[in-house]
Amino acid sequence: MLGLKLPTDPRWVNIVEKNIDEILTDHAYCEQKAASTAISLIISFPDYTELVDEMIALSREEMGHFKMVHDRIIARGQTLGRERKDEYVVKLMKFFPKGGSRNTHLTHRLLYAALIEARSCERFRLLSEELEDKELAEFYHKLMVSEANHYTMFLKFARQYGNREEVDQKWNDLLEYEASIMKELGKKETIHG
Ligand SMILES: [Fe+2]
Ligand SMILES: [Fe+2]
Repeated sequence: MLGLKLPTDPRWVNIVEKNIDEILTDHAYCEQKAASTAISLIISFPDYTELVDEMIALSREEMGHFKMVHDRIIARGQTLGRERKDEYVVKLMKFFPKGGSRNTHLTHRLLYAALIEARSCERFRLLSEELEDKELAEFYHKLMVSEANHYTMFLKFARQYGNREEVDQKWNDLLEYEASIMKELGKKETIHG
């Protein structure tokens, strides 16, 4: 469904379960970064009206997710911790060469966003299926559905604004590269770790 080339080892959930506070903090910032990405796309591409419209809605929705996670952190008697660097995203975003036309730059950003949504969705699905805490599992099930919609939306825009054939080739290459990054991951209590 998501096109990912390497599934996450389900044992990752055992690592997460030992440190729910840690995953919630990391997760909260994933939502914040998703909202920031949407806003940043608006700033960089204001003349892409359809995209701007969707990014307005998306930034709101992602901040809604941020609030849902933040509420959970508070309910657990904790406060939001500091942001952690997302090594997965840093590595992923080295894939496409810098430069090129404005439109190329846009399609690259859309493909990165689609992939991050797809992998997040896969991780949420795993949490929804494997977590012992059924209430938390249900929470992740709901989020999984949202992220799957975001993944298809970003991919749709990439194909709409770029050359369809070229975009599909790039998407496939990016998926291969992502799988190579994932081989080293799945060992930390973070959403993409
Ligand atoms: Fe989200
Ligand atoms: Fe999302």
